[in-house]
Amino acid sequence: MRSAKNVRLPDPLKQPRPWAAAFFTCTLLVMIGVFAASLQAQNKNPLAGDPRAAKLGEFEFRANCAFCHGLGARGGGRGPDLTRAKKRHGSTDPDLFRTINEGVPGTAMPPNGATQQGVGMTEEEIWQVISYIRSVEKKGEAAAIGNVVHGKELFNGAAGCSTCHMIQGKGGRIGPDLSTTGSTRSTDYIVESLRSPSRRLAQGISEAMKEFSQEYETVTVVTADGTKFMGVVLNEDHFTLQMIDTREMLHLFEKDRLRSFEKSRESLMPAYDQKMLSDKDLQDVIAYLLFVGAP
Ligand code: HEC
Ligand code: HEC
Repeated sequence: MRSAKNVRLPDPLKQPRPWAAAFFTCTLLVMIGVFAASLQAQNKNPLAGDPRAAKLGEFEFRANCAFCHGLGARGGGRGPDLTRAKKRHGSTDPDLFRTINEGVPGTAMPPNGATQQGVGMTEEEIWQVISYIRSVEKKGEAAAIGNVVHGKELFNGAAGCSTCHMIQGKGGRIGPDLSTTGSTRSTDYIVESLRSPSRRLAQGISEAMKEFSQEYETVTVVTADGTKFMGVVLNEDHFTLQMIDTREMLHLFEKDRLRSFEKSRESLMPAYDQKMLSDKDLQDVIAYLLFVGAP
């Protein structure tokens, strides 16, 4: 063994440093990337007001976006109504370009090219889609036709919504949090959710980012000792079932230990017919949801 004093410490300046070259290359690539991105981030849609571009954009939209945002961009089960002039993530041309190109992290809104359709759109195609969205936008915000204050009273009182739904941190957790529903769902969709909740179940909480997310399915479980729980499925695999029951207790069951479990697409939410909620009260509740959800 050599003694320590004979060991020559490496001179950091004379050693070959492959990482330094790699670092330099990376920096260069980043700079090129930033330059390219700045080309994309134009301040205005170069195709603004061109009806042919809007037509081509409509075609792109049907292929890549209507699945979530609905036909005519009026909103669907998975994506917000884009005909509203005021957008949650910014309403200017560069804002829209950024949202469409980069997606909205943490939500179902994918970055360009990340969907199963594959290759993604070119810069020009993104501007065409933006031209299309502009062509279907409503000019000016539609004035809310309901009474927000009365809607809030109904939500937290007579209509019982807050026993199952949370808004801005207050309320129940059996149904989805409705704090942003006003801006992420179309009005038609909300009406349908209330009048016929089972027609289209809301997307599940934990799975909302997956391509095919889990839904708020109703589940009834009977444990080995005969205790019965009813609630909503939060997560499920071959062996286990995670649910929240109507008393807001979380459960994790091993399926083969249960006496029975049954899932159903009948929503746990009551269907609010005219008797439970008149058309006028429905308008008021929706006005409240739009008000709290406004960007
Ligand atoms: C898998 C579903 C899905 C697909 C496909 C999808 N979106 Fe989205 N999009 C969403 C969701 C969900 C949001 C709302 C994100 C949030 O919670 O704020 C959203 C948000 C947006 C927004 C922002 C709206 C606002 O108020 O700020 C724009 C613009 C948008 N999408 C455009 C598009 C376009 C254009 C396409 C097709 C190229 C597309 N989306 C494809 C689900 C989708
Ligand atoms: C007994 C519990 C319960 C009550 C009361 C209830 N809901 Fe629900 N709600 C749910 C559940 C569970 C879901 C998810 C399944 C579904 O989509 O129907 C849901 C879904 C929804 C959705 C769809 C959300 C989405 O993102 O797709 C809306 C909107 C909604 N409820 C609004 C209301 C309003 C407004 C009221 C009061 C008038 C109300 N709910 C009362 C349990 C309830």
